[in-house]
Amino acid sequence: MLITLWLRLGAFLGKTLLWLLGLGLLGWALLMAWSTWQHRGPVSAEELIPDGEAAMTQDIIQTAVRIVDQHRESTRYLRDAHAKAHGCVKAEVQVLPDLATELRQGVFSEPGKTWQAMMRLSNGNAYPQFDSIRDARGMAIKLFDVPGKQLLSDRQGHSEQDFVMFNHPNFFVSDVAEYRQNVAAQADGKKAMAFFPGWDPRTWQVRHLFIALATLSPAPASPTQTTYFSVSPYKFGDANAKFRVMPDPDSCPVYALPTQNQNLPNFLRSALNQQLSTDRVPACFVLQIQRQDAGKYMPIEDTSIEWSESDAPFETVARIKLPAQDFDTPALNLQCDNLSFNPWFGLEAHRPIGGINRLRKAVYEAISDYRHSRNAEQ
Ligand code: HEM
Repeated sequence: MLITLWLRLGAFLGKTLLWLLGLGLLGWALLMAWSTWQHRGPVSAEELIPDGEAAMTQDIIQTAVRIVDQHRESTRYLRDAHAKAHGCVKAEVQVLPDLATELRQGVFSEPGKTWQAMMRLSNGNAYPQFDSIRDARGMAIKLFDVPGKQLLSDRQGHSEQDFVMFNHPNFFVSDVAEYRQNVAAQADGKKAMAFFPGWDPRTWQVRHLFIALATLSPAPASPTQTTYFSVSPYKFGDANAKFRVMPDPDSCPVYALPTQNQNLPNFLRSALNQQLSTDRVPACFVLQIQRQDAGKYMPIEDTSIEWSESDAPFETVARIKLPAQDFDTPALNLQCDNLSFNPWFGLEAHRPIGGINRLRKAVYEAISDYRHSRNAEQ
């Protein structure tokens, strides 16, 4: 009797589980079909600025200042994002000597030209933490001695072109409104509300939650061994484009990085130091751009959408070399901490476009000024 009861219960639980699995798969398939249907071309080749964006931006700045205040490390104010650097390293960025004519734009106008540059490699978190913790990894590059008018009126004395990236191709929010909602929920400690703001399922951002989870990925073996994406779009002369920086080991001497102890908090810095400083082997990358085809679903105003490579391939415009060097000294590390990288530091030919970039213009400036002024008071 008891055995029959157990067998029936087991069969019932098994069937229920199968049903739930089937329903889950059906739900997933419907979600995918809905998403594919929603995300079809064509799109605008121009920026479309929604009403109320400026007010939302001011709100976000207040939240960002709150985060910086919460995360100050003993006496120093750190960046609001990408606070921990693995190092700032000297880089050489060489425009392809045989670059196609239509790709000769802005700092890539002169084939064969080599720019001296600085590259900051970082973890994405607002607070310095162990490198083994899942996180986005950042790369920021600053080209020096770039002639021409700078985009920001108060940067006219400077001559730089920055490229700011992290190692995931799309962002966990689409636009400024969603960003405000998301960070406000997170800053208030209501993490679930960041992606599920209300009871109405139409407000749930399941796809964006998956992007956020995928962005927080395990650490690469070294900061030189992962691909970094602009995520948001930029002008590229008259075209619109995204860019990425990808490891290009074939352009450098063969090198096998000795296995690092990933239990050490800063093993990504150690990996960089081992290659460039101890073993004195350079690291190589290619810088590539992906031009928008507005006939395809390649939107400017939605950073959650990865532009498909089958719609528009990436094209190499420059090679980047990190020469062997000693970068890990107290003086150079302090200098690194005091540098500011900003997608808006640069030329009109590479103007950042789209809502998330318009937001970054205001936020990076406000936060960078805030931490520099607080640090100057110390
Ligand atoms: C398109 C997506 C984004 C990418 C690829 C990106 C990437 C980065 C990287 C790599 C850094 C570190 C720069 C450095 O090494 O100094 C950084 C810093 C920063 N990011 Fe972003 N970010 C993105 C979006 C945003 C957004 C939407 C915000 C906020 C509105 C934001 C706020 C900041 C701030 C405040 C800093 C620190 C600036 C400083 O104090 O110098 N980022 N970002």
